[in-house]
Amino acid sequence: MLEPSYQGIIYFENDPKKRLTGRKLEAVLNLLHTAFEGSRTREEIMLWIKGSKTGTKDFPYPITNCEVLIIEDVANSKIAGAIITADYRDVRYIPLLATNPEYQRRGIAKVMVEAIKGLQREGVEIRVHHRGHLRKFYKSLGFNVENTGIKYSRGKPESIHRARWIKPK
Ligand SMILES: CC(C)(COP(=O)(O)OP(=O)(O)OC[C@H]1O[C@@H](n2cnc3c(N)ncnc32)[C@H](O)[C@@H]1OP(=O)(O)O)[C@@H](O)C(=O)NCCC(=O)NCCS
Repeated sequence: MLEPSYQGIIYFENDPKKRLTGRKLEAVLNLLHTAFEGSRTREEIMLWIKGSKTGTKDFPYPITNCEVLIIEDVANSKIAGAIITADYRDVRYIPLLATNPEYQRRGIAKVMVEAIKGLQREGVEIRVHHRGHLRKFYKSLGFNVENTGIKYSRGKPESIHRARWIKPK
């Protein structure tokens, strides 16, 4: 259960009236850039937020129908968390998810992922690069987590885990 002063807002890139812009866009870029310790550049985050016809090296196919959900602590004018989701090939993909460190371990990421699950029509897939420490997090949210191999990031090996959830019929 989140604090009553927290508010969830969904931005749709496809609707000019509901795009993430201005101060909030900046705050989300800063939150995600910092959360991933700079390994996701602001330009890459913008590609996900805005969608891209060309994609990136790891994501060469079109990224479309982007939505950004943010949880805002209205009383303190702070962004507590943000999650990006977009259509990528045949899945609804969640490329980026972060909770502001000041707000972590209060169930914010859980609420954001559950909200995306609620919006989902067919299935959602999250692919995460980590050393296994988030396995429990995704499993606790009902995702099936598989180790899909090793990737080198900044010269260091990292195991890649793919978490997949499909809406029950
Ligand atoms: C991972 C992250 C999004 C979790 O955010 P959060 O809002 O603190 O998570 P929640 O409070 O919803 O956690 C729910 C459960 O997930 C697990 N969990 C959350 N963070 C965890 C961590 N760092 N290590 C291990 N388990 C964790 C716990 O089981 C937790 O329940 P508990 O607090 O009752 O033990 C946040 O730590 C973060 O932004 N990290 C940096 C960016 C990142 O790694 N993003 C995810 C990859 S896409």
